[in-house]
Amino acid sequence: MNSKLSPDERSAMVLKQMTLDEKISLLHGTGMKGLGPVSPLSVGSNGGAGYVVAIPRLGIPAIQMSDAAYGVRMSGENGRYSTALPCNVGSAASWDLDAAYQYGALIARELRAQGYNMTLGGGINLTREPRNGRTFEYLGEDPVLAGRLVGQVMKGEQAQHVLGDIKHYALNDQESGRNSVNVNISERALRESDLLAFEIGVRDADPAAVMCSYNRVNGDYACENKYLLMDVLKKNWKFKGFVVSDWGATHSVEKASAAGLDQEEPAEIFYGEPMKKAVQAGKVPMSEVDDHVRRILRSMFATGVIDDPPVKSVVDVMGGMDIAQKIEEQSIVLLKNDGGQLPLDASKIKSIAVIGPHADVGMISGGGSAQVDPPGGNAIMPPGTGNTTWQMHVWFPTSPLKSIRAKAPGVKVQFDPGTNLNVAEDLAKSSDVVIVFAYQWESEGMDLPDLSLPDDQDRLIARVAAANRHTIVVLETGTAVTMPWSSQVSGILEAWYGGSRGAEAVANVLFGDVNPSGKLPMTFPQSEADLPHPELVKPPAKSMSDDWRKIAAGLPAFQVHYDEGLKVGYKWYDAERKPVLFPFGYGLSYTTYSYSDLKITPGNPVHVSFTVANSGQRAGAEIAEIYAALPASTGEPPKRLVGWSKLQLAPGERRNVDVEIDPLFLAVFNVDKKGWEQTAGDYGFMVGGSSQDLPLKQTITMK
Ligand code: BGC
Repeated sequence: MNSKLSPDERSAMVLKQMTLDEKISLLHGTGMKGLGPVSPLSVGSNGGAGYVVAIPRLGIPAIQMSDAAYGVRMSGENGRYSTALPCNVGSAASWDLDAAYQYGALIARELRAQGYNMTLGGGINLTREPRNGRTFEYLGEDPVLAGRLVGQVMKGEQAQHVLGDIKHYALNDQESGRNSVNVNISERALRESDLLAFEIGVRDADPAAVMCSYNRVNGDYACENKYLLMDVLKKNWKFKGFVVSDWGATHSVEKASAAGLDQEEPAEIFYGEPMKKAVQAGKVPMSEVDDHVRRILRSMFATGVIDDPPVKSVVDVMGGMDIAQKIEEQSIVLLKNDGGQLPLDASKIKSIAVIGPHADVGMISGGGSAQVDPPGGNAIMPPGTGNTTWQMHVWFPTSPLKSIRAKAPGVKVQFDPGTNLNVAEDLAKSSDVVIVFAYQWESEGMDLPDLSLPDDQDRLIARVAAANRHTIVVLETGTAVTMPWSSQVSGILEAWYGGSRGAEAVANVLFGDVNPSGKLPMTFPQSEADLPHPELVKPPAKSMSDDWRKIAAGLPAFQVHYDEGLKVGYKWYDAERKPVLFPFGYGLSYTTYSYSDLKITPGNPVHVSFTVANSGQRAGAEIAEIYAALPASTGEPPKRLVGWSKLQLAPGERRNVDVEIDPLFLAVFNVDKKGWEQTAGDYGFMVGGSSQDLPLKQTITMK
């Protein structure tokens, strides 16, 4: 307990005192109904998804884990309160490293206040398959953007003395058949795409834990995959924390242990009694068990959960709401604004029609283990009707109608849910401006059938837009959507799942109190036909089961081939020369920016400097993006994101920035040498406000 010693020294000292039973007690959870046996010890759980018992004799506290992707989960059934931040992919649209840190810090403060010391957030599976039902929980399609952002989220969390966790390692890029799918991908593509996001996150934040995923990768389950866990994560990246299995993703004792799985969750199907027997029989060496235990203890000392345990308290509700709103205001992406339709000027409008399902009461959120419970229950249910349940469509009590009314006191603001198209059309016709709130709900445990809006909303928008050309669509989605009506409407805002204060943030953007600055962290394709895999591969019946025994034993595999390789997102559309609906990195503002004075200074690191000027009438923030085209000999896609800078600029202001390019972001993975290397040749650097609007270009030769 001497806090002057290093986490390594302290964990080594504790380890020496431990009995085999004590060691094993740290290697597994205590159970969850439906996912294996539940131990009587689970009564000590704080009510979260995972609970590892304490060892009071040695001063080691329990690990109390809660899901906390965009806020702390299960506050409903535990009788607590949690703030919902904008969903993760939404926050990625801010490209804001400081906001990402605040995002993590807020979640961790609320975790501690509720008695937890470990978070299960930190999802960074790349948007390789935008129909993946968990896209809203992740940080978009680019490994550099996702990796940098998750690193900041983790730093923010761990600074509050909460064990951080990055997940789902790796390639759990579709939910369909996640317990049985075998993902096939080449090593170089894997290292340069999905794994690069994890590599950056691990490097930047030194997270306490990495969660291995449900699926198989190149033949082996991720949680017993020696290549992923031992060769890459622990040896190559020198990860110092522990590997925790996803809930029910462990499939063996010896194989998993040797491959590098440190802790089984949520139960003890393999890492309890069977592990003990394997150790006693000499099948699992004690040195392996010691390494698992040492990693868990080390993370506990390093993040301070032992020296500074959580103290239950009332969370800062108002402060949390303000942070959620500010982050949402930075995350909203203005996709279309014909003829300066936005921002709205309430003094020049007589009537506004607010149309769309539940736009009078709330905004939707994403389901599954990321779900945060709204205060007062689901906003579309009568008040006080209780908890939300798994995969329920949950709406937060943040009312677009009320927020718009508050912005336009003298204006007649009328609402219609859009259920009857004729009624909606009539209201649209008789109003000056129409604002349609459209949604696409998604959740863990399922994939979207396609990328179009559900419930006939496309038809609703088309009808309303035909009746009134001043139609603005606000999208509440967790992934890309197709928009057959995009040319008919005058404005489009992507608000994502906006969190506790989504409607207030949207109204601030609609009426110009906030100048939008978000940029898409993923490509919006024109249609599913343009995706690398127009059809999502579904599991055959024999590869599906809800029975934890069958899942643990291993369901028969079915194959998914990621033959697009590292061409994820814009890299695919660039390489295939496919036009898109809205490109990666795209987003409009109420002002305009101009770029000039590009200067590339070769070296290690390369420096890219340029000037951005606010050439319009309003203050705003511009995310200036830097891409590189690697030498042709590398065979890389046409370009990759290598850096960015977010600049706050007053009207007329111009600023020169110098961005240092991380050498890793210019490297190529050499499979023979098992390492990153820089290729000699010509490097084209491109700078601008979107992946398809890069006015500054310069090529340099590097040795
Ligand atoms: C999810 C994880 C989550 C865990 C615990 C699993 O179903 O894949 O993301 O952390 O459950 O709830």
